[in-house]
Amino acid sequence: MNRPIIAPSLLAAGSGNYGGVVAAVERAGAGYLHIDVMDGHFVPNLSFGPNIVEGIRGGTSLYIDVHLMIEYPERMTPAFIKAGADCITVHGEAPGDVGAVIKICRGHNTGFGISIKPGTPVAEYRQWYPYCDILLIMGVEPGFGGQAFIPGTPGRIAEAKRLRERLGARYMISVDGGINLETAPLCVSAGANILVAGTTVFGAGDPADAINRLMGG
Ligand code: DX5
Ligand code: ZN
Repeated sequence: MNRPIIAPSLLAAGSGNYGGVVAAVERAGAGYLHIDVMDGHFVPNLSFGPNIVEGIRGGTSLYIDVHLMIEYPERMTPAFIKAGADCITVHGEAPGDVGAVIKICRGHNTGFGISIKPGTPVAEYRQWYPYCDILLIMGVEPGFGGQAFIPGTPGRIAEAKRLRERLGARYMISVDGGINLETAPLCVSAGANILVAGTTVFGAGDPADAINRLMGG
């Protein structure tokens, strides 16, 4: 089974010492840092702004994967790129202009991804998938960490993998929400390349051990 990239989700980390927790997961072998941005409209929660990305950027070489759970993501994309985001992932379901986000990302040589909610058909936004570096399959309803994994998620990952072949696309498949030592192997064997994990990594006493186990170590 291929070893997945582990993307710890900062939402689950205590807000007292982001620099310290990011350095710890980087040392532990994480490949990405997943930053969940919520606007209180697209999802009923509020989280990070560009300032947090800026504060973290200087202290890590991790690939910063920003997950915009916001309306009109084209409005905030430039600010998150300027702050140091390496990839901007937006929800197909959100009101806004996906084409504009792609253009902005391309202009800054920044990665681009589309995320889909659990109830959205995998092929719903296929017109954008040839432009994607990441297709982010949600394992939970977006908005909060610590939720239960939706059992049908591995089937959706497998469908995303088949669709990638059919479209001749090149996106990596990422899965986000409810990832733990039991659900991780199900997702990887279905074709997930990236595992986003918050509670399992930051809720554990030893993030390094959690990351190593999630990688299949
Ligand atoms: C939910 C976020 C996820 C979440 C993952 O809206 O997109 O990244 O933080 O948290 P866990 O791993 O705790 O389910
Ligand atoms: Zn996320």
